[in-house]
Amino acid sequence: MQRLARRHGNVFTLNIPIYGRVVVVGDPQLAKHVFTTSPDELGNIKPNLSRLFGSGSVFALDGDPHRRRRRLLAPPFHGKSMKNYETIIEQETLRETAGWPDGEAFATLPSMMHITLNAILRAVFGADGAELDELRRLIPPWVTLGSRLAALPKPERTPIRFGPWGRLAEYRRKYDVVIDKLIAIEKADPNFAERSDVLALLLRSTYDDGTVMSRKDIGDELLTLLAAGHETTASTLAWAFERITRHPDVLAALVEEADNGGSELRHATILEVQRARTVIDFAPRHVFPEVYELGEWVIPRGDSIIVHIGRIHENPDVFPDPERFDPQRFIGGKPSAFAWIPFGGGTRRCVGAAFANMEMDVVLRTILRNFTIETTTAPAAKWHCRGVAFTPKDGGRVIVHRR
Ligand code: HEM
Repeated sequence: MQRLARRHGNVFTLNIPIYGRVVVVGDPQLAKHVFTTSPDELGNIKPNLSRLFGSGSVFALDGDPHRRRRRLLAPPFHGKSMKNYETIIEQETLRETAGWPDGEAFATLPSMMHITLNAILRAVFGADGAELDELRRLIPPWVTLGSRLAALPKPERTPIRFGPWGRLAEYRRKYDVVIDKLIAIEKADPNFAERSDVLALLLRSTYDDGTVMSRKDIGDELLTLLAAGHETTASTLAWAFERITRHPDVLAALVEEADNGGSELRHATILEVQRARTVIDFAPRHVFPEVYELGEWVIPRGDSIIVHIGRIHENPDVFPDPERFDPQRFIGGKPSAFAWIPFGGGTRRCVGAAFANMEMDVVLRTILRNFTIETTTAPAAKWHCRGVAFTPKDGGRVIVHRR
């Protein structure tokens, strides 16, 4: 994509198997236009991750049903609810890093995956227990397989027992057994009405017309949150280690700040990691009206549009000297809502953006306070695509010492 953008500029059309004609948009002004278009005109690209999560996932919904679902999902991930989750994330970080080797190189990505999966599991279900252990075993290989299959042709009939699609169906069957148990446990809780976990909120909530979410939709949506909520955040954290170990000045300043109780540079560093090492490269849409006008372009119904996030993050007019890793560019100001877009934009903007940023902040703060991280002169890590998210190829290797 980067090569094509260099050759053809910020807007070009591709024919992609399964998706058909796709207009790739790497211009911040046009991205703003896309993100501010009514969801009745631009829906989610088809196919999308709802192939993995199910037809009840927010990824599958457009127009009104999407709006209604987003209203339902927003409160637990709203900025105000974040304080409640901080302790969980600190506990999970301390638990995971207790096993880190002293003075030996290791990849941070697997640890970050554990922390972020445990954090989102506890946020979603409110408690720990045997059922969560089962989900801890089930979800990582399922998401890995599902991410690889997300953009491949799906056979007409899903084989029941054989092949990768059959394996996905088997994961789902096991998952549904666990979710049934967890729903039964929640409903049996005498304090159910006061519970603030995401499952309780979904079970208690009603749409404007008084109807409730179906059992299948709840299962699909919980899976969406668990899958969308952990790999992306873990990948960004692994990149954070990759970046700060290669920038000793930034690392030293981060340690000093964490020791003194500050947070401004850490927040800016997280923004800069997300800009310079964007883990989800696209925000995709599907054109509903007969024609959709985007600047000088006219895009017919049925085509797709992909906002090329990585390209926009490298735009030198918005981010001078974009190759330079420089958290200072985010000190003292908010990033532009249409040029700094790791979470996409508009009505489909990531539900978990505030949660992810809070989580990355707490994980980094906890690690900086408890470990000394060695710097390295190794060249920048190569990019690796896991299917949906990009990670550092070496998994964000570090050498640490307990403080
Ligand atoms: C650093 C971490 C994360 C990144 C980079 C990320 C990125 C994204 C992006 C690019 C989109 C598409 C937005 C668009 O089309 O405009 C998205 C959607 C979504 N994300 Fe995230 N995400 C992250 C963390 C999370 C977390 C923690 C959760 C859940 C708690 C989550 C749940 C979702 C959901 C449900 C959607 C679909 C929204 C919709 O279609 O309305 N994400 N995310």
